[in-house]
Amino acid sequence: MRQKIVAGNWKMNKNNTQTQALITELLQQLPATDAKVMIAPTFVNLAKAVESANNSAIEVVAQNMHQAEGGAFTGEISADMLTDIGIKTVILGHSERRAYFHETDALLANKVDTALKHEMKIIFCFGEELKDRQDKQHFNVVEYQLKDALFHLDKAAWQNIVLAYEPVWAIGTGETASPAQAQEMHKFIRETIQERYGNEVAEQVSILYGGSVKPDNAKEIFSQPDVDGGLIGGASLNAADFIGIINGI
Ligand code: PGA
Repeated sequence: MRQKIVAGNWKMNKNNTQTQALITELLQQLPATDAKVMIAPTFVNLAKAVESANNSAIEVVAQNMHQAEGGAFTGEISADMLTDIGIKTVILGHSERRAYFHETDALLANKVDTALKHEMKIIFCFGEELKDRQDKQHFNVVEYQLKDALFHLDKAAWQNIVLAYEPVWAIGTGETASPAQAQEMHKFIRETIQERYGNEVAEQVSILYGGSVKPDNAKEIFSQPDVDGGLIGGASLNAADFIGIINGI
C-alpha cells in the first residue's frame, strides 16, 4: 500500500505565535487517519513547531534547504541545521522557488543529493506552467523535470522520495486541475518512473497533487487511483479547512 500524505505548505505566512496557535488547533482536531499529516512552517518557527508537535501524528517539515554542507551562504539553511532540530523531511523544487529564486532542475538534483546524504525524505515538487499546457508540452515538461532532477538516483533512494505534481497554473489561483487531468498526469508520472526503475518503485512512490485543493474538491481529487494525497498551500493556513481536506483522504 502506498503511503497517503496530506502536507500543508505554510509558505511565508504565520509568525511564531500564530504558528503555535494553529498547531494547537490542529492537534486538537486531527481526525484518526492512515494518512501521514505534515506541516511546513517557515524556517524561523521550525524548532518550536517540532517541540509542539513532538509525539503527535503531525510531522513538521521544512520548505526548502541549501545544497551546500555549510559555509559562506548568507541567509541560507543547511541540511545539518534542519536534522539537528528534528526535521526529517524537506520540500524541494516548489514552483515559487523555481520562479522567484531561479532554482533549476540541475540545482535541485544537488539539493536532492544533499538531503539524501543526510537521510532526509524529500517532497519533490514539479509541474508545468499554463503556457506549456496550452502548447500541449505539459507531459514533456514534467518528464524532463523528473529526469533532470531525480533520474540520476539509484533505486534504493526512491524510498525517500515523495513526488508532488503541482501545475503552476493551479497554485494559489483558485483554479484546480480537474480530477481527470490530475489522474492523467499522475498516471503518466508513474509510467515514466516505471520505465526507468521498474514496477516496484513506481508502485510504492507516493504522488501528491497540489494546486488549489480545498475541502470541497479534496475528496474527488484524492479518490483518483494514482493520486496519493495533496500538498496544500492556502487552505492549510486554516485549521477547519486543512482538517476538511484531511477528511477527504
Ligand atoms: P495552493 O498552493 O493550495 O494555495 O494552490 C499549493 C502549493 O503551493 O503547494
